[in-house]
Amino acid sequence: MFDIQEIRSQFTILGREVNGKPLVYLDNAATSQKPDSVLEVWNNYYTDLNANVHRGIHTLSQLATEEMELSRIKIQKFINAKHDFEVIFTKGTTEGLNLISYILTQKLKKDDEIIISYLEHHSNIVPWQLLCERTGAKLKVIPIDENGILQLDIFDQLLSEKTKVVSVNQVSNALGIVNPIEEIILKTRKNSGAYIVIDGAQSAPHFTIDVQKMDCDFFVFSGHKMYAPMGTGVLYGKHAVLEDLPPFHGGGEMIATCSFDGTTYAGLPFKYEAGTPNVGGNIALGSAIDFIQKIGQENIQHHENALLEYAQKKLLELEGIKIYGEKANRTGVVSFNLKEIGIASDVGMILDKLGVAVRTGHHCTQPIMEFFHIAGTVRASFAIYNTFEEIDVLVEGVKKAQRMLS
Ligand SMILES: Cc1ncc(COP(=O)(O)O)c(C=O)c1O
Repeated sequence: MFDIQEIRSQFTILGREVNGKPLVYLDNAATSQKPDSVLEVWNNYYTDLNANVHRGIHTLSQLATEEMELSRIKIQKFINAKHDFEVIFTKGTTEGLNLISYILTQKLKKDDEIIISYLEHHSNIVPWQLLCERTGAKLKVIPIDENGILQLDIFDQLLSEKTKVVSVNQVSNALGIVNPIEEIILKTRKNSGAYIVIDGAQSAPHFTIDVQKMDCDFFVFSGHKMYAPMGTGVLYGKHAVLEDLPPFHGGGEMIATCSFDGTTYAGLPFKYEAGTPNVGGNIALGSAIDFIQKIGQENIQHHENALLEYAQKKLLELEGIKIYGEKANRTGVVSFNLKEIGIASDVGMILDKLGVAVRTGHHCTQPIMEFFHIAGTVRASFAIYNTFEEIDVLVEGVKKAQRMLS
């Protein structure tokens, strides 16, 4: 398969210590670490190539443009989009979702409906609430059961001709639950003419993505959660859908002609890329895709699922651990609390002293926390470079927290 130590050696940061202990980085759902190859590409851009793109006749500008457009093609292939111009560079999932909700404003009217799920990140809730405020549309929510699984029979009842948007994540960041988006998309296509938006922030780093097979209208994800620099992201939109919708930001790059009498817009993808893009970051995102593809998405998924299974088994061997979404189909995340003792942040602080980086709190998913009547969870999330030994360190740390907090 692959040599995990060789992969770890590609990440300088993984060799550092935290609080005198080797770093055990288990906060990958928040952001992944970046391999040296990606940092090198990013650094080379600024040391050797830096120029603004698309506007220059000079050599550096042309080279920078070529590199960035090459990266767009890598992303196109990575998600199997039909055209490279369906790939829009953004600064992350949040920007992608805000962009979509903004450009759909004219398509919605009072009493239309937008369906999201209980498992959404705030960035797939608030933009739709803002759209409802602008248009008078109503937000409907697919509920979950006690295992965190979406109740699709209720989704069936929510879907109607009034439904104009269905926006759900493929994988929940708080619980790691893999949602049945294939079924959600089929049902939506069959029973409404709604736009389908998939938040792929937690799936793109772990799964093979095929937007044509998926048949969604939009798919958004963040580069920084998949080994690329922060401030990078992608919005995929179907050609015909993007052609039909208005621009988001106005400014340079997105115009064909501009005068005081009016402006005509550039074609795709530039219509949605106003202003100077994150050229170095976007090029480095292409390099992160090279990194992923060299290992192979199936190998990544296989390894991360094995880590999850091991972590869950080891944690459940301890007395008094509650895992949220324990019985659901999950990937890459274990979200838990110590029953009756301690709050998540106390556990997180004890783990930090041992060099273990986990996230604690509501993970930008307050409705999920309300559902389970908790303030937060301890979340360990995995990437390709994590090892079974690191999970042993996590479990020993949790045992220590139990002793200290009881
Ligand atoms: C499922 C999901 N959606 C959206 C986001 C927002 O991503 P970003 O902060 O990179 O814009 C996150 C980030 O954690 C996420 O996990």
